[in-house]
Amino acid sequence: MMDWTDRHCRAFHRTLTRRALLYTEMVTTGAILHGDLDHLLGFDACEHPVALQLGGSEPRDLAEAARIGADRGYDEINLNVGCPSDRVQSGRFGACLMREPALVAESMAAIGEAVRVPATVKCRIGVDDQDPETSLFGLVDACAAVGVRTFIVHARKAWLKGLSPKENRDLPPLDYPLVYRLKAERPDLTVIINGGVPGLDAAEAHLARVDGVMLGRAAYHDPGVLGAVDRRLFGAAGPDVDPWTAVERYRPYVLAQRARGVGLPAMIRPMLGLFHGRPGARTWRRILTVEGVRPGAGAEVIENALRAVSPRVVEPV
Ligand SMILES: Cc1cc2nc3c(=O)[nH]c(=O)nc-3n(C[C@H](O)[C@H](O)[C@H](O)COP(=O)(O)O)c2cc1C
Repeated sequence: MMDWTDRHCRAFHRTLTRRALLYTEMVTTGAILHGDLDHLLGFDACEHPVALQLGGSEPRDLAEAARIGADRGYDEINLNVGCPSDRVQSGRFGACLMREPALVAESMAAIGEAVRVPATVKCRIGVDDQDPETSLFGLVDACAAVGVRTFIVHARKAWLKGLSPKENRDLPPLDYPLVYRLKAERPDLTVIINGGVPGLDAAEAHLARVDGVMLGRAAYHDPGVLGAVDRRLFGAAGPDVDPWTAVERYRPYVLAQRARGVGLPAMIRPMLGLFHGRPGARTWRRILTVEGVRPGAGAEVIENALRAVSPRVVEPV
């Protein structure tokens, strides 16, 4: 998610789940081909498995950007066919590509030839006045014909005229049954559902009908939910990761990044919701946001905030 799931956020989320696949923010081909690659694509080995999401629609550029991403060690290359912002539409990529399945397929074929890691698509069910069944199945079938096996479907349309990107994440109605039907009628494909999934109970319910669930805002605002993902969704043994353990695991990362001169605010931002719903959550947030922005603030701010929240409770397994 743009401006949210940066490398620090992903490193933090990785302390909570070893198994969930993490995604970068969308990075455009133009940025990759002309920009500062360390800044745009740098990530820490702890983030694996991590997918690079590309934005673009020029097959040759996408292939080159994908190759660069795969060379840097990304585990999957994903194409964004869902972003509705104006900026993206004028560049002819994101959700408006739902209208151009042949171009998306050509792009995916080029990416698939350029890399050995999986090349996947994240799409909407349609845009504007498209019939979602026709647009979703049309896009998926065109891409499957060139070898794409995995589709992440944000189960609502994007309305490209008149809605802000934020509204486009909430207002067009969700159509989960259409995504279930895609899986039922294309059983060989891996279908991952996305959109409005509030937590793991809902994720488990979806998993009876599809192969995977992508959590966006819920994972960002309430990252503690990720602490139960490995056990509940992947059947891993062992206790869930509680917030205190997540902080312990994140500490070495923070210290290493501070030593390289990375400022604290970017690293504490993804932690703000960690104690969501627990006693002390507001104090935790307040200490991190107030003390964390002071010049020279270091990892001790996190310790201060931790001391202020309720003591660790041992949770039943
Ligand atoms: C701040 C923000 C930035 C986003 N950026 C991206 C992005 O770069 N690429 C993408 O595929 N989706 C992006 N999304 C959409 C989410 O991936 C997801 O599809 C959407 O929020 C619906 O899922 P959710 O209800 O679980 O959040 C973004 C969402 C938010 C809130």
